[in-house]
Amino acid sequence: MSATVIDGNQLSRQLRGDIALRASRLAAAGHQPGLAVIVVGDNPASKVYVRNKVKACADAGFHSLHEAYPDDFAEAALLDRIAALNADPAVHGILVQLPLPVHIDANRVIEAIAPAKDVDGFHIANAGALMVGGAAAAAGFKPCTPYGCMKLLESVGCDPRGKHAVVIGRSNIVGKPMAMLLLQAHATVTICHSATPDLAAHTRLADIVVVAVGRRNTLTAEMVKPGAVVLDVGMNRDDDGKLCGDVDFAGVSPVASAMTPVPGGVGPMTITMLLMNTLEAAERVARRSSANVESIRS
Ligand code: GUN
Repeated sequence: MSATVIDGNQLSRQLRGDIALRASRLAAAGHQPGLAVIVVGDNPASKVYVRNKVKACADAGFHSLHEAYPDDFAEAALLDRIAALNADPAVHGILVQLPLPVHIDANRVIEAIAPAKDVDGFHIANAGALMVGGAAAAAGFKPCTPYGCMKLLESVGCDPRGKHAVVIGRSNIVGKPMAMLLLQAHATVTICHSATPDLAAHTRLADIVVVAVGRRNTLTAEMVKPGAVVLDVGMNRDDDGKLCGDVDFAGVSPVASAMTPVPGGVGPMTITMLLMNTLEAAERVARRSSANVESIRS
């Protein structure tokens, strides 16, 4: 038997329908959600991602700003733009597409974004909130790709509680926050990376495997426990130039119980959770302003 294919496009459509409805209610109350997306340089992949993010905003009824700057754009000028967007009440979320050109310190840029507008969830305040868990985590923003992975697990009824989850990859964008979210959901979590000597020894014990490495065929059939759920965050090209993930999909499918395809799995969920975080940021502003109105009235 082959694994159930976890359809990220279908789940995205469903979630984006709810998001658009909530956005229209907010807009009617004078708080249309707004996202500013900044891209610096000519990275072709970044340009495609940013275009998709801006289109998704329009489809969900959000206001969006798209700022594109040349490769030699100065870091100080970028920090000035972020300060202006931090102060702009029509902007609830700010996203600076990574990677940035090497002359710009990405950490300095991320830390310049107001945590309340950091809908990527990369600011140290949001990363820290996720680490602390509980009420702190609920008040922060979760990074979009791992957040989307948690929604994909939920969509197939996979509750991480008591399960052994293996995350392959330790980036700040995916691997580390993914591990934290699984831990919060009461999984036993192992993080593997490029210096892990025997990857298969870990993955063979895993009920859930999340692969976020950026290398084809990182996970193959003999590395997977029968019945495991496999999420593929990779985005690569095969020898024919076709899009593929980090998992040998055809090989793993007869072993796993459920798995995401590439494309059509995790990818669409990343943008969906970006919309969700931006909506949440706008709803928080709207709640604060209606609380202020109530306090002025009373
Ligand atoms: N580059 C690759 N993934 C992401 C992401 O989720 N957010 C940003 N800002 N840059 C990225």
